[in-house]
Amino acid sequence: MGSDGGRAVRLGIRSNTGGTDRPNQVSDPTLDNPTISAWLNTAAFVAQPINTVGNTGSNTLHGPSFKRVDLSVFKNVGVSGAVRVQLRVEVFNLFNTPSFANPNAALGTAGFGSITSTGNNIPRQMPFAAKLLFWSKVSRMRTFLLAGVALAALAAVVDAQPPPGRGGGRGQVTSPRNAYPDRPAGDPAAIERGRALYGVNCAFCHGADTRGGDSGPSLLRSSVVLDDRNGELMAPIVKSGRPDRGMPKFAFSDDQIADVAAFIHTFRAAGYDESRQKPPSILVGDAKAGEALFAAKCASCHSATGDLRGIATKIADEKLLQQTWLMPGSGGGRGAGAPVVPPAPTAVVTTASGERVEGRVTHLDDFTIALVTADGGYRSFRIDGASPKIAIKDPLDAHRNLLRTYTDRDIHDVTAYLVTLK
Ligand code: HEC
Ligand code: HEC
Repeated sequence: MGSDGGRAVRLGIRSNTGGTDRPNQVSDPTLDNPTISAWLNTAAFVAQPINTVGNTGSNTLHGPSFKRVDLSVFKNVGVSGAVRVQLRVEVFNLFNTPSFANPNAALGTAGFGSITSTGNNIPRQMPFAAKLLFWSKVSRMRTFLLAGVALAALAAVVDAQPPPGRGGGRGQVTSPRNAYPDRPAGDPAAIERGRALYGVNCAFCHGADTRGGDSGPSLLRSSVVLDDRNGELMAPIVKSGRPDRGMPKFAFSDDQIADVAAFIHTFRAAGYDESRQKPPSILVGDAKAGEALFAAKCASCHSATGDLRGIATKIADEKLLQQTWLMPGSGGGRGAGAPVVPPAPTAVVTTASGERVEGRVTHLDDFTIALVTADGGYRSFRIDGASPKIAIKDPLDAHRNLLRTYTDRDIHDVTAYLVTLK
């Protein structure tokens, strides 16, 4: 909806110097019932004496006001899992309210005080459209994975000894291993009830398979959902919603929420859900396609006959192998360390006095950065606002950036290929 009270009219009269001056006002310029042909009392103004400034104030008169109501209605219709059609009707200027330009404000010209043109309000328009949407369940989940894994990786290199177990570390890091929690199978009856509730109330936004849709994020990678057991963490969100962010509230009982949770928990972050009766192996990709992808995306830094030769022997567990190539240094868990220790980030610190120190980062927080330099020296610096200047270079940046680009299929294919590198 748009409206305004009318734009200011600047009265003018041609001056003797070639530009425009303000005229003199001699009586009330407003009319009780202004019309298009007479918007203001033209008799209220006279030309000011030559070489003087007129007494008419600026912005004392206003042109016609402007009002417009626009309306749009969108409806998403699912076509298949990943494709939906968005039907859109948009109406601009629903009530077809005309708008008019300001009146002719040049004293002494024909038509002074009358309106001769329409304003910039568009006449009513009603475009209909259909938009084909392919939603990518990967983009959001990758971002989540990215943040979690990146933090975990940084925490691991920065803390010489990563905190044991989950959640204990700096900033409640979500480590990749609790991104794939093991859960006991839920009660089948509860899952069925939850499936029905979810299908009607939630699938529209979060996707039939909880992997997210146009209007809701993936629940699969949601930390709330991952940490939730029986709906206890989802309950406050479902009951109160987050209306400001597009999540409506639902008048569900705790039992209903537990049922919905049981259903949502049948979906596994690793990609194979009981609900979809997929095989438990993660080796479902096409090794040939994976090889091609490797050549395109990885071969600039790695080689199957060089540094990654025998990687599948070194990391025999395919899930661990997958986590490792996705984000080197992740994986491990249950007491075991990650199978590979990636190189630490390096930094160049430039102090206010111009000293430049480069080294491997051993500690970094809001207040201090510590480096070990190439000659084995240890230097630490207090961080005070923008000083010193710190440029961090993380060898895993490429992996981090690539994370966002993979589809689920890419991931399966690359893993299927790497598994052949015995
Ligand atoms: C109209 C769309 C819509 C519907 C319907 C909907 N949600 Fe949501 N939901 C959202 C959006 C958008 C968010 C993200 C809100 C935010 O950014 O904080 C969200 C967030 C959530 C979250 C929190 C995720 C997180 O990590 O913060 C949970 C849990 C959730 N929804 C569960 C459900 C359940 C269960 C249902 C059905 C009972 C449901 N939603 C129905 C749009 C929807
Ligand atoms: C811009 C360079 C770059 C690209 C591109 C890249 N990586 Fe890496 N990768 C690294 C670095 C740096 C490391 C950590 C050092 C190391 O172990 O070699 C690493 C580590 C790994 C490791 C762990 C190896 C080990 O034994 O330590 C695997 C597996 C891996 N990358 C696979 C891949 C795959 C698969 C791709 C493509 C999808 C890829 N990388 C793309 C730079 C890259």
